[in-house]
Order: sequence, then structure tokens, then C-alpha cells
Amino acid sequence: NVEPIRKICCIGAGYVGGPTMAMIAKQCPDIEVKVVDINADRIAQWNSDELPVYEPGLDEVVSESRGRNLHFSTDVDQAIADAQMIFISVNTPTKHFGVGAGRAANLEFIEKCARKIAEVAQGHKIVVEKSTLPVRTAEAVKAILAGASSGATFDVLSNPEFLAEGTAVEDLVAPDRVLIGGESKAAVDALVDVYAHWVPREKLLTTNLWSSELSKLTANAFLAQRVSSINSISALCEATEADVDEVAMAIGMDSRIGPKFLKSSVGFGGSCFQKDILNLVYLCEYFGLPEVAEYWEQVVKMNDYQKTRFVRRIVRTLFNTVSDKKIGIWGFAFKKDTNDTRESAAIYICRDLLHERAKISIYDPRVDAEQIRRDLADVMRNGDSELSAASEKLLNENVEIVTDIHEASKDAHGIAVLTEWDEFKDADFERIHNEMKKPAFIFDGRNILKNLPLADIGFIYQGIGFSR
Ligand code: UDX
Ligand code: UDX
Ligand code: ADP
Repeated sequence: NVEPIRKICCIGAGYVGGPTMAMIAKQCPDIEVKVVDINADRIAQWNSDELPVYEPGLDEVVSESRGRNLHFSTDVDQAIADAQMIFISVNTPTKHFGVGAGRAANLEFIEKCARKIAEVAQGHKIVVEKSTLPVRTAEAVKAILAGASSGATFDVLSNPEFLAEGTAVEDLVAPDRVLIGGESKAAVDALVDVYAHWVPREKLLTTNLWSSELSKLTANAFLAQRVSSINSISALCEATEADVDEVAMAIGMDSRIGPKFLKSSVGFGGSCFQKDILNLVYLCEYFGLPEVAEYWEQVVKMNDYQKTRFVRRIVRTLFNTVSDKKIGIWGFAFKKDTNDTRESAAIYICRDLLHERAKISIYDPRVDAEQIRRDLADVMRNGDSELSAASEKLLNENVEIVTDIHEASKDAHGIAVLTEWDEFKDADFERIHNEMKKPAFIFDGRNILKNLPLADIGFIYQGIGFSR
């Protein structure tokens, strides 16, 4: 018999922790929610009018509860001490050093949180894993918590988050399901009661701890696999005069396949898909299942191929050279309606264009110029600690970050559409055509301009997965 939850704390005020806790605070006025982070700048932003995360509708959700039962703070210890339930929502990036480098998740941040909780907690606490974790992480978390010197006791739950960026608020308001895995029924029930404030009971799914952990990785692997599957077919469509959007429509009407997540693109990005699949691959290898590992690894390889193929097609179409030619880049975020660029296809496309000596002019309506510069510098460094002189020169001389699409397109030989921002569809294409070098090319990595009369205006238009 656990007392009803009145105080929650969440460690990690990122893309997952921030919006999720804001929603819990909104829906549960009887619960005090404190979100803590070691990054003081981030906390300051959560406490300002300029939130660190751009999500449609999030400003309203935050302003409704902030200062009432939603608080953002850097005082991690106090928040842990006060809370009955502690969510861990810190980042779990792919490890880039040591054993499992490039595949395994780096659990350093999770482990630090667990140690912090063990150090500070008194009495009984429910610890909830919110971050995506490799299956059996809870075992490590439990082992660390068991070492608490204060004699505090713990239940560990897994409650993976399935929200997608750009639709976080709607996904949180009306989730397809909420998954809660755990060993103690009382602890599971306590968390069920939190979500039951607004989520219908039949959507609250409880499983054992390991199924819950594994379901998150599996869901992301299946979603990414659909994108890679349709993208693989897009290459075949370009070679055969089939049209990938028609194929997607035709197969999606089979109720066993379904219509969603079949949009061919320049490749999936985001903080989860690649990381989670690589994690799954690593786990399979660890458990002696190389055939299974290889099966899933192909999803990531296909995604890399799709990005490379897009650049190769641009170069080929622009008479086999883009050297010194300006290419306008429309969109840098990994999908529309977010300012997140993690693993965005745009990063890799821009890198490859720079290696071809193109001059790129980038416009994104939500991503900070500084973020774009950081992403490009990171990718050009390619794991080294220093930028080579050649890369530095390319970044300084061949990259421009601008504040509207006209600037990005003026005097360009081609435009590459890399994010499906709605505003791109309403652009003044007559003016853009007038201001570009001729012939004027558009390479649409999202197929959002496909139905516009661009050829009539004089553009040479190419999308993904069809030939005209
Ligand atoms: C299939 C297609 O479904 C059908 O649209 C096409 O016209 C012909 O090929 P069929 O082979 O008759 O039809 O049966 P299907 O129900 O698709 O099953 C194929 C195999 O997959 C069976 O051996 C079935 O047992 C297996 N299967 C199917 C599974 O193992 N798991 C599943 O979830 C579904
Ligand atoms: C994903 C999962 O959807 C979510 O459940 C999980 O919690 C986190 O990972 P997210 O990465 O935010 O969410 O966005 P998502 O909508 O899944 O898109 C991922 C990438 O796939 C984007 O780059 C998107 O452009 C691409 N994509 C998606 C396609 O290229 N085609 C599609 O049909 C769908
Ligand atoms: P996600 O997309 O999973 O939410 P983010 O990187 O956006 O990931 O957010 C994770 C947050 O967790 C970051 O703001 C980071 O500063 C914070 N964080 C990482 N480790 C700790 C820690 N030990 N204590 C508190 N906050 C942490």
C-alpha cells in the first residue's frame, strides 16, 4: 500500500523530461512536479518566455502550471529528497569510446543519477526510467540503489516515453498507450494512478520490467524499419518509372500494413531511431544473436545509403560538379515543427555537399544559426578533437546561414529541400526562379512540392522515388 503520489521530481529537463512533466503538472493539479537539471542555462530557459524546446502548444501547457505545481530548478538533491517518485529522463547517447563504441548506449548519465538518488534519498522512493534504455538497465539501476547508505528503499519502474517531437503535446494528451513495467504491483499502481488523471484506463498497459524496456527499442526499430523499407523501394522506383508515393498508397491500404510511416524521404533522423537500433544491434550481439543483429543493422545502413544517394543524384544532375556552385538548403531540423537537429539528415547532406566543394546557404525557420554551425563543425571533425585546416576553411568560406528562403535561393544553381516545413509550400516560386541561376533545379528530399506547377515556372524538379 503506497500512499497516493503528491510529489514528483524529474531529473533531466530535455525534449522528453520537460514536455512530459509539464503535461503531468497540467493534468494533475494535486501533484507537485519539480524538473531539475545540472544545466543551469536550460533551467533558466524553462523559467523564461523562450523555452529551450520548440513544440507547437507547449508554451500554453507550461505557462498554465509553471509557478503553480510545476517548477524548474537546478537543486537536484533537494528535489530528490522531497519527491515520492523520481523520473530519470537524462540523455543516453550512443557511446563513442571503449567497449561497444558506435553502438552501445552510454549509460554514464543514468548511472550518475542513480548514484545521486542513492546518496540523497531517505525512506521509500519509486524510481522511474523514462529515458530509452537497453533492456536490463533496471538491473544496474537497482544494484546501484541497493547500495544507498541511508537505508532508503526503492522500487524501479520502466515507463518509456513514446512522444514524437513536433507533436509532443498531442501525443502526451492522447497517447496510443502508456507503458509501465515493474515488479512491485503497488509501485506500478501508483504510477498508473498518475496517468489515470487523463489517460483512459484501457490505454494504460502494464508489463514486466524487461518487456517494457525492450518494447521501446522494438517500437523505434519497427518505425525506422518502415522508413528504410519504403526508402529502399524509392531507389527502385527511380530506376523503373514507378512512383514511391503511389506504391506507398497502394500497400498502405492493406490493413495488415497500414498507411502511416510510409513517407519516403531523404532519410530518418532524430535522437532515437539510429541510436535505439544500434543499441538493439549491440544487445543482440551481446546475447550471441549475430543473425538478429545483422538484420536490424541493415535498417541503419539503408538510411545512410538514402542520404548518400540523394547527394550523388544532386551532383550527377548538376552536370557532375557542384564545386563553387551555390546550393540553397531549405530546412535543417530532422522533421518539421521542431528545433531539434540531432541526427538530422541535413547534417550529412551538407557535409557531403561541402566535401564536393559546394557553397551552401542554409535556412531553417526554427533552428538557431549557432546550432547549425555546431552540428556542421562536429560532423566535419569526424570524431577527431580538432578540425582540419581544410574543413575549417570549408566551414568558414562555403557555409552561410540565412534568415529567409529567398536569401538561401538567390543565385543558387539548386535548392535542396531537407525538412518538410509547411511554409516552403507557400513560397513565391516565380520570384525564386527569377533570382536563381539557370537552369534552376529543385531537389525535394521530402516530396512536399511535388504537386506544384514548378515545371511550368521553368524549374527542373526532382523528388525522391519517382522520375519525371
Ligand atoms: C500472402 C499474402 O498475405 C497475400 O496478400 C498474397 O496475395 C499471397 O501471399 P498467403 O501466403 O496465402 O498470402 O498467407 P498469409 O496469411 O500472408 O501467410 C503467409 C505465411 O506467413 C504463413 O505461413 C503464415 O503462417 C505466416 N505468418 C503470417 C506468420 O508467421 N505471422 C503472421 O503474423 C502472419
Ligand atoms: C520517434 C518515435 O516516433 C517516438 O515514438 C519515440 O518516442 C521517439 O522517436 P521522433 O524521432 O521525435 O519520434 O519523430 P518521428 O516522427 O518518429 O520521425 C523520425 C524521423 O523519421 C524523422 O526524421 C522523420 O522525418 C522521418 N520519417 C518519419 C520519414 O522519413 N518518413 C515517415 O513516414 C515518418
Ligand atoms: P532527451 O531528448 O532524452 O530528453 P536531452 O538531451 O534533451 O535528452 O535532455 C537530457 C537532459 O538531462 C539534459 O538537459 C542534461 O543536462 C540532463 N542531465 C544529464 N545528466 C544529468 C544529471 N546527472 N543530473 C541532472 N540532469 C542531467
